[in-house]
Amino acid sequence: MRKVLLEAFHQANGGFVSGQNLAEIMGCSRTAVWKHIEELRKDGYEIEAIRKKGYRINKSPGKLSGNSILLGLETKMMGKHISYHESLPSTQKIAHKLADSGAEEGTLVIADEQTEGKGRLLRTWHSAKTGIWMSLVLRPKIPMHQAPQLTLLAAVAIVQAIEDTTSLLPAIKWPNDILINGKKVTGILTEMQAEADRIHSVIIGIGINVNQGLEDFPDEIKETATSLSIEEGQPISRTSIIQSFLKHFEILYNLFLKEGFKPIKLLWESYAVSLGKEIKASTLTGVLYGKAIGITEDGVLLLKDDEGEIHNIYSADIEI
Ligand code: BTN
Repeated sequence: MRKVLLEAFHQANGGFVSGQNLAEIMGCSRTAVWKHIEELRKDGYEIEAIRKKGYRINKSPGKLSGNSILLGLETKMMGKHISYHESLPSTQKIAHKLADSGAEEGTLVIADEQTEGKGRLLRTWHSAKTGIWMSLVLRPKIPMHQAPQLTLLAAVAIVQAIEDTTSLLPAIKWPNDILINGKKVTGILTEMQAEADRIHSVIIGIGINVNQGLEDFPDEIKETATSLSIEEGQPISRTSIIQSFLKHFEILYNLFLKEGFKPIKLLWESYAVSLGKEIKASTLTGVLYGKAIGITEDGVLLLKDDEGEIHNIYSADIEI
């Protein structure tokens, strides 16, 4: 019911919607409409009510909620089902569970805080309040080896969302770190459920440092991490970033399903900082030095060492 109500306000594009109109759209009485409006107010929406004109949303809450994201979301599929939680061990776990029980493609799990956030390479991911911690459920009909490409696709969508909502210039460090002024602002963790060569689901886990101050980061990452608000010098709306990310992700994902990885690869390369540079790649089996000469069609990093040998890097920490 709330979703229908918020959608009606969205359609009105910031204008008034009469109580009668809302009652018809929602198929309920005007008194019931008023009760739903009161609930939205309790959630932090500022709703103006004027006789003979109806209701208008003047401000959505700064607090993250499924409703505030749905209001103004311009997608057909991504984020149309949102599972919002104030605190969770990890959004990845819930997204896997929902995927197991048949959740639709585009289902989004969001938490205000994670107590056991998971990073790449079995690391923990520091996820205090004021960041964006979310996991997106996908069900792509693609061969398994192409799944890692979705990580690069997600990185492009995040860069575009940051560019849309701030004046910052983000860059991508292979495979999935987004940097601003050389410091990490976002990490992506892609996990897959598959059987033989059939993908059941891909869960894209995204962590974006949004409104943290430097004091909010643990000492060990203070030098290397940053947040959008630190870099921009003012608070940033998490809702706007999520909405913009979902919009860009949907466009890129549809392009990817239609035309493959090529157009995404071109975009990814246009934002990449590591390509053409001397890098150190710490993999699980050892450390390699050389020049990052490109990525393959599968999103694998190509490193040329001093002897001219080319190595395929599937998973590593990169230092430039
Ligand atoms: C990285 O190590 O760079 C990847 C970090 C991914 C963190 C996100 S936050 C939302 C989702 N839930 C998790 O537990 N991890 C991912």
